[in-house]
Amino acid sequence: MEKLVIEGGVRLEGELELQGSKNSALPILAAAAVTGETSILKHCPQLRDTDAAMRILRHVGCEAERAGNAVIVRSDAPKQWEIPDALMREMRSSIIFLGALLSRFGRAELSAPGGCDIGLRPIDLHLSALASLGVRTEERCGRLCCSVPNGLHGATVTLPFPSVGATENTLLCAVRAKGETVIRNAAREPEICDLAAFFNGCGAKIRGAGTDTVTVEPAERFRALEFPIMPDRIMAATFLSAAAVTAGTVCLHRAAPQYLVPVLPYFEQAGCVVRVQDDDVLLHAPHRLQSTGLVRTMPYPGFPTDFQASAMVMAAVSQGTSVFVETIFENRFRHVPELQRMGAHITVHNSVAVVEGVPQLCGACVRATDLRAGAALVTAGLAAQGVTQVSCIEHIDRGCERFEHNLSLLGARIERIETDTE
Ligand code: UD1
Repeated sequence: MEKLVIEGGVRLEGELELQGSKNSALPILAAAAVTGETSILKHCPQLRDTDAAMRILRHVGCEAERAGNAVIVRSDAPKQWEIPDALMREMRSSIIFLGALLSRFGRAELSAPGGCDIGLRPIDLHLSALASLGVRTEERCGRLCCSVPNGLHGATVTLPFPSVGATENTLLCAVRAKGETVIRNAAREPEICDLAAFFNGCGAKIRGAGTDTVTVEPAERFRALEFPIMPDRIMAATFLSAAAVTAGTVCLHRAAPQYLVPVLPYFEQAGCVVRVQDDDVLLHAPHRLQSTGLVRTMPYPGFPTDFQASAMVMAAVSQGTSVFVETIFENRFRHVPELQRMGAHITVHNSVAVVEGVPQLCGACVRATDLRAGAALVTAGLAAQGVTQVSCIEHIDRGCERFEHNLSLLGARIERIETDTE
């Protein structure tokens, strides 16, 4: 079993180039199976989740190989519309392959995703959106068996909630449907814009991505494409928070600051100086952070649920009281007991966490309960006095590319060790 061991109290300083976005790479890897062409996806991060997506692609008959920071997918001869349970379980977002397989084969069989560590991940919105495009679904012994008896057809799909995954699955099917599709109350996340840009580059005509109404004209013919995956906005915020809690100064390159609009004011309210220049973001943190008042996680352009845990670490060491309201996932405060072990003063009432900042956290043995919670615990370890050991780091490896290496480039004292004990 591997752990990350962090010796805290070192001020982070330096510059980093940001990894490509996991949340954009995964649907685009699925989209590469739809086109029947060769896709070269540059800046595709090397992560447990992207590796799992490549295994799914190979299982369904695509070629998927890494070439430096790119992944090359050839999808001219897919052969398999079934994904075994073991492969589905390797990655929480594997449901995105539902739309891809239906689009390509007109049928798909895969296991329904179970609940996960941050709460239930229902797919009712995905299924009802796909039903509008002609998809029929039966559930048999935990397996979803989907088919398209009369072909995929365009439709107007109104989502009751702007679900990122449901918007992506709808796009994946709509690009091969007959006729135009309009998605109302679509998710506005930048990763939706990236998926739309990929499909547009391949020959589809998707308009309105990034707004709540997205119109899809299917592609007449798909073409091969070389496409750069957008920078990871959640990792950008994570590195900025690591600098913030260590009174550090960092410059992030290829940071796509336009997508950081929901989080940069948070750093400013905490007393950091933030400068944006072209594609770079520079942050200079004060000796002690200030509390930030009320933070409520919301769909984009609101405050991202994926940054809530790291933002809470900042609040934990700031002066004053901050309040977090988690509105997206019902079980997303699992980092709180771990932060309490490190000396944080946090109380949770249902979806509300009240954080009273303390001058200093102390190192402890803590457990990564999910990807973003794990990254936040590492951040807490950087701020703490003494040594912190973070276990269950396989969660961190799902989404943070060479995390300890990148943090050590900024001066952090962090190493990965192999141990027999948890
Ligand atoms: C969510 C985040 C996304 C983040 C990703 C990875 C939001 C809105 N979405 O995307 O930004 O990158 O996690 O952590 O912040 N829901 C249903 N039925 C469905 C689908 C979703 O009830 O069919 C509910 C979920 O229970 C949850 C919310 O909608 O409360 C999450 O929405 P969704 O955007 O679909 O989740 P992800 O696609 O996983």
